[in-house]
Amino acid sequence: MPAERPPELARFLDALKSGLAQVKAGEPRSMLERVFTKLESCAPPRESGPEKLPVCEQLAPVLLQLNQPGQALTGLAHSLIELAPELRWSERPGPAPGANDLFHGGHANAMIIGPGGIENRRDLWIGISLLAPGVRYPDHNHAPPEIYLVLTPGRFMQGTGNWFSPGTGGSFYNPPGILHAMAAKDAQPLVALWVLDVS
Ligand SMILES: [Fe+2]
Repeated sequence: MPAERPPELARFLDALKSGLAQVKAGEPRSMLERVFTKLESCAPPRESGPEKLPVCEQLAPVLLQLNQPGQALTGLAHSLIELAPELRWSERPGPAPGANDLFHGGHANAMIIGPGGIENRRDLWIGISLLAPGVRYPDHNHAPPEIYLVLTPGRFMQGTGNWFSPGTGGSFYNPPGILHAMAAKDAQPLVALWVLDVS
C-alpha cells in the first residue's frame, strides 16, 4: 500500500512552495520543479524516534515570532511548529573548516524529508538548520544543487563572493559543488530551510 503523507507534512510542503515562489527562472526554478514533481509521490517515515539537542530550545521563540498574524511566513512557521516534535536533530559530523568556537554545541540540523527524515527517502533532501547567536557554520560543498529559504536575519557566503544577507523570507541557489557557509548574527539565532535535488 503506498505511503500517505501526514497532513502536517503536506501543509509544510504547501507553505514551503509558497515561500519559494520568488525563486528565479532558469536552473533554480527547474530544480525546484523537479523536487516538487518527485514529491507527488510519498515515502514512509523513518523508524527512529525524534531527538533534540540543547540548542533546539532556541527554535520555538523564532517560530512563534514568525507565526504572528500578518507575517509573510506565518503558514510556514505554523507548519514547522506542528512538525517540531517529530524532528530528529543532530550536529553536523566531520571536520568544520571555517567554523568558529561557538559551532559545536551551538548548532543543529534536522532532515524533514530525505534520509532519516519524517518522510524517509533518498531522491531529495529538505531540512532545517538552527544556529545559535554568533555561530559561524563551516565552509562546505556538495554535488546536489540546493536552494535555501532563510527564516531569520543572518549572513551567507557562496564561492569567493562576499557575505550577503537574504533577509527573512529570502532565498538563494547554490549550484552543484559551490563552496558555501552561513553565520548567525551576534544577538539572534539563524534558522534556514534547505532543499536539495539528489539524483
Ligand atoms: Fe549546503
